[in-house]
Amino acid sequence: MDKEKKDITIKLAKTAGFCFGVKRAVNTVYEQIEKGDKLIYTYGPIIHNEEVVKDLEEKGVKVIESEEDIEKIEADATVVIRSHGTTEKICDLIKAKGANIVDATCPFVKKIHNIVAEKSEAGYHIVIIGNDKHPEVEGIKGWSKSSVTVINTEEEANSISISDDKNVCIVSQTTFNYKKFHKLVEIIQKKVYNVIIVNTICNATSERQVEAKQIATEVDSMIVIGGKTSSNTQKLYEICKEECKNTYYIQTAKDLETVQLEGDVIGITAGASTPKNIIEEVQANVRFKF
Ligand code: F3S
Repeated sequence: MDKEKKDITIKLAKTAGFCFGVKRAVNTVYEQIEKGDKLIYTYGPIIHNEEVVKDLEEKGVKVIESEEDIEKIEADATVVIRSHGTTEKICDLIKAKGANIVDATCPFVKKIHNIVAEKSEAGYHIVIIGNDKHPEVEGIKGWSKSSVTVINTEEEANSISISDDKNVCIVSQTTFNYKKFHKLVEIIQKKVYNVIIVNTICNATSERQVEAKQIATEVDSMIVIGGKTSSNTQKLYEICKEECKNTYYIQTAKDLETVQLEGDVIGITAGASTPKNIIEEVQANVRFKF
């Protein structure tokens, strides 16, 4: 059989790549460019993907990351808030400069900001289950009107100290592991009485993982696309590798040169920060491997 004409089937995951919130934030920046806005900033990189950030940079979009940076922006600038969201203080500082805020905070994250603002105002102590250093958690903390505790481990949950007559509202970082969230909530519930628990975990990550696992069971070779340092891509790779030993982790279509695909049915998925064009390019080039 002619090598180039081998009939192969490609199973591309529907959940591959950007989740809804990231897609929306990235599109928002491109829309501002199309509108002809000249001075566009994003508060923090819009996404952890060098190619996208570089492309935006070439189109004149700059990244600002601190209160000092806000000081330097022009009054007619536009600042896009990324999907992770940010603190109320940062929004106020941008407004105080007279700049235009385009809020691309993911609606699922915005919902957490609203819960935290409302419950803290009503006197609840806020507990965030998540990673204290993550920008999303930083942002959530910044909407609380009262004290906040961030819990990431069982040890931290065990050593939480909140007076037992205090009302407590527990929320979660959107990408937190569901099982771990329940475990930590269970521990906290034993220590405080009046607790409201709002599960604010977003399903995008677990849906992507479930679909990748399913596809990996159905294919001869599996390709996982994503940045080298992307932890969610690494996780996808591990999940797929368990089901399909011919699983390959690549960053771009160029890396296909280094992999040896086997069989007639090839699966493709991608991490949360992999742009659509890279996924499409891989999909198009896979056929030339045969
Ligand atoms: Fe994405 Fe929003 Fe969920 S940014 S991971 S859809 S919370």
